[in-house]
Amino acid sequence: MAPGLVETAIEVTQVATKDLKATVKPTGNIHNYVPGRTTVKKHDETYKYEDLRPRFPDITWPALTPVEYNDKGLLGDANFKNLISAATDVFDYNPKVGTEIHGVDLANLTDLQKNDLARLIATRGVVFFRDQKNFGVDEQRALGKYFGELHSHATTAMPRREGLEDVHVVYTGEDSPDLRALFTPTFLWHSDVTYEEQPPSYTSLKVLSGPPRGGGGDTLWSSQYAAYDMLSPYMQKYLESLTAIHSADLQAQGTRELGRTVRREPVTTAHPLVRTHPVTGWKSLFFNPGFVTKIVGVPKTESDAIIALLNEIVATSPEVQVRFQWNEGDVAFWDNRVCNHSASYGFAPHRRHAVRVCCRAERPYLDPESKSQEDDLSARYGIPKANKDGSGIVNYND
Ligand SMILES: [Fe+2]
Repeated sequence: MAPGLVETAIEVTQVATKDLKATVKPTGNIHNYVPGRTTVKKHDETYKYEDLRPRFPDITWPALTPVEYNDKGLLGDANFKNLISAATDVFDYNPKVGTEIHGVDLANLTDLQKNDLARLIATRGVVFFRDQKNFGVDEQRALGKYFGELHSHATTAMPRREGLEDVHVVYTGEDSPDLRALFTPTFLWHSDVTYEEQPPSYTSLKVLSGPPRGGGGDTLWSSQYAAYDMLSPYMQKYLESLTAIHSADLQAQGTRELGRTVRREPVTTAHPLVRTHPVTGWKSLFFNPGFVTKIVGVPKTESDAIIALLNEIVATSPEVQVRFQWNEGDVAFWDNRVCNHSASYGFAPHRRHAVRVCCRAERPYLDPESKSQEDDLSARYGIPKANKDGSGIVNYND
């Protein structure tokens, strides 16, 4: 029942089973329709991406040390003109997050276009490109390096080919178990490696092999700019005073239990719960359902309540989310500072194989003078702001 809706008394009529049977007429053989039916591709020894299949080498690395980061988005054109002028089509998925661009080859961008790309990703959270045939893993790394020093993951798979230790492999084989039961849907939402002192910014994921349309395996992103804007001014102010603990411990523990090597010792880092983006100047929530274990300096009951509230906002607010249905060769480029993302399962028996590259960014900070996305866009373009006072009568659900 929707809030505010008053229902009248319901009159229940008992219907005998034999009467129901009499009213149901056969409509043909409906069992010929298999929901979500897709053709499963057979992969043999000549698999095109054999060198990018996963491996978990028994090697170790020292702790990360601080790195200088200069955000290329700051050099981008305010109207993204170098990038947009090369596109054949540009459209947003919704006002808050997600833009798709056609006609642009990520493997052949000028530096001006790369700067615009960074600025656009920072602004829109995630940008999608279809069928990027020329954008192989070497080109993907080269573009990532243009944005900053590449991050090497301490526990997840890397490609079989040597020299790609900074590439993260996502791989689900035809025989892989379905992992849905191992995660709550909320926990599956995350931004990547936020326990690092300098968590990543611009992150690209290319799907090499995957289910065809309708076969599942979509990825979802949730805007943390928009999540911040869903909070009341009072809650925004309160959360701006807090830091959250992001921990790699659980990830490391799971890796060891699988008998794999943790290549770099797990770290635990306190980050501001609200951060400022250096390019857009907008405030965003910096919360991560997958890695935040505690809010610092408040009683556990309160910490748990804040985490539960933010989990709900990030994971269950459709208007701050975008969902992308992949085809092979598609690329998603997101700003890991201002988006959480989530996988979706249920695509067996398709193989799903993707490679991710990301760069280390600035240490998160909050500039108290920075603006929210909604406030800024409202002031500049007259976009109406959400009513947050909770008043009024609601009768929405039908
Ligand atoms: Fe991820």
